Amino acid sequence: MTEADVPTAERISDDAFFALDTANQLPSAPAPRRRSPEHRAAWTARTRGFLGSDPGGSWVAERDGEVVGFATGFRREEVWCLATFAVRPGLQGAGIGAQVLDAAAAYGDHLPRGMLAASVDPRALRRYHQAGFRLHPQLTLRGAVDRSALPAASDVRDGGPGDLAWMDELDRALRGGPHGPDHERLLAAGRLVVTVDRSGYAYTNGAVLALLAARDEDVARTLLGACLADAGERYEVPHVTSANYWAVEVALAARMDVVAQGFLGLRGMAPPAPYVHHGALL
Ligand SMILES: CC(C)(COP(=O)(O)OP(=O)(O)OC[C@H]1O[C@@H](n2cnc3c(N)ncnc32)[C@H](O)[C@@H]1OP(=O)(O)O)[C@@H](O)C(=O)NCCC(=O)NCCS
Repeated sequence: MTEADVPTAERISDDAFFALDTANQLPSAPAPRRRSPEHRAAWTARTRGFLGSDPGGSWVAERDGEVVGFATGFRREEVWCLATFAVRPGLQGAGIGAQVLDAAAAYGDHLPRGMLAASVDPRALRRYHQAGFRLHPQLTLRGAVDRSALPAASDVRDGGPGDLAWMDELDRALRGGPHGPDHERLLAAGRLVVTVDRSGYAYTNGAVLALLAARDEDVARTLLGACLADAGERYEVPHVTSANYWAVEVALAARMDVVAQGFLGLRGMAPPAPYVHHGALL
């Protein structure tokens, strides 16, 4: 993938995920929507960031000179991550995905660990299984927050660039690699909450938890409680594996709903905990 391919990849990804979300809509969930201009710009900037940090990590498939599918990925020390993977609707199921995923995965083949956030598309799940990934079911916690049931949000403060070194150390212990250059995107998209004793952190934007990493479950509960206390009318915590049942307990105490949604795909590692991964930056 080159810089020039990024706008086409963005369109393919929006088309593919909109079609997938429409086909799999849960009665309790809001109707799927097209990406907003802001979301498109953030997607594009993030993908350009991958090309900058990991030239050779992202691949496109062309047919008759036109990009029809792609996979973006990156390496962070011991762990390879797949960020996005999509094929133009109408051309799916014909082997294009296998080719781009093989090319992207080869970039991380020599690393002991791999992570990806899988959609519910059965085509994606076949691909990931055949690429050597084990699929761990995930929960999404969502709904209005009953604040009367939240743990006290003591010992937390807003974080900043001066916190990134110890946060990277925590990520090394939890997933085998730091977020490094990805913190810049996460910081731009929301608020960073950290514990005063540097035992954990969370990125939140008032509506969605983007990422949470903690030394132990008590710290994780405190951080999630702080995110919920700061939430708007509704809040969503996606990407919760059963290894992170502490998050389910906090959400149920706050009277939120629990639904099963998607999978965490892993190679060479068990589901990280206490850890709630980011969908693309993992
Ligand atoms: C996931 C995706 C990128 C895969 O690309 P693709 O070109 O469709 O994949 P391939 O054709 O190489 O492989 C699809 C596999 O599913 C099988 N398949 C095809 N149609 C299927 C269907 N309707 N149900 C179940 N399996 C199906 C194929 O036989 C193939 O498996 P096999 O290699 O064991 O025979 C593409 O389908 C897509 O864009 N989906 C929507 C977005 C998405 O979910 N992306 C993944 C993000 S995590």
